[in-house]
Amino acid sequence: MPAHIQITSRSFLPFALAALAVITVACSGPTGSDEKATERIMPVARFEMAGAAAPPAVAADTENAESATASGQKDGATVYAQICKTCHDHGISGAPKIGDKAAWEPRLATGMETLYNSSLHGKNVMPPKGGNSSLSDEEVRSAVDFMVDASH
Ligand code: HEC
Repeated sequence: MPAHIQITSRSFLPFALAALAVITVACSGPTGSDEKATERIMPVARFEMAGAAAPPAVAADTENAESATASGQKDGATVYAQICKTCHDHGISGAPKIGDKAAWEPRLATGMETLYNSSLHGKNVMPPKGGNSSLSDEEVRSAVDFMVDASH
């Protein structure tokens, strides 16, 4: 039996060494794998940095889109639908309702220039340019034309 044990312990030795080797590698592992992890993360970090650089490009695109909109005038119907209808669809705060001939008649009698002026610079509760100062004078005038056309 002792011989048998001897053989076992002898045959165990390579395994023990192998195990030791594995443990050694495993212990030195963290440093090595950390470096590897860093290497593995680097491309991601670079990608994220590239991603962080992307928003200005998107912002530039939006700027272009906005300047394109600003250079192309909105027509009266569009301006009315976006800004003026808030009050003029329902006669809010005494606003003359679109299509209400009786409400528009006395105003029309004052002349288009008066109506343009009120719209551009405001009149009582009616805010200048309907409260949207980004509208061009031309856009406000065409919205007045649109309303007047629909109201007499
Ligand atoms: C916040 C509500 C409001 C919005 C938005 C608004 N209006 Fe008015 N508007 C009024 C009111 C109230 C009056 C009546 C003012 C008065 O006669 O006292 C009025 C009057 C007018 C008149 C008649 C002015 C006059 O001299 O009799 C015109 C024209 C007019 N609005 C055009 C516009 C146009 C064009 C827009 C959009 C660009 C617009 N309004 C947006 C409230 C508004």
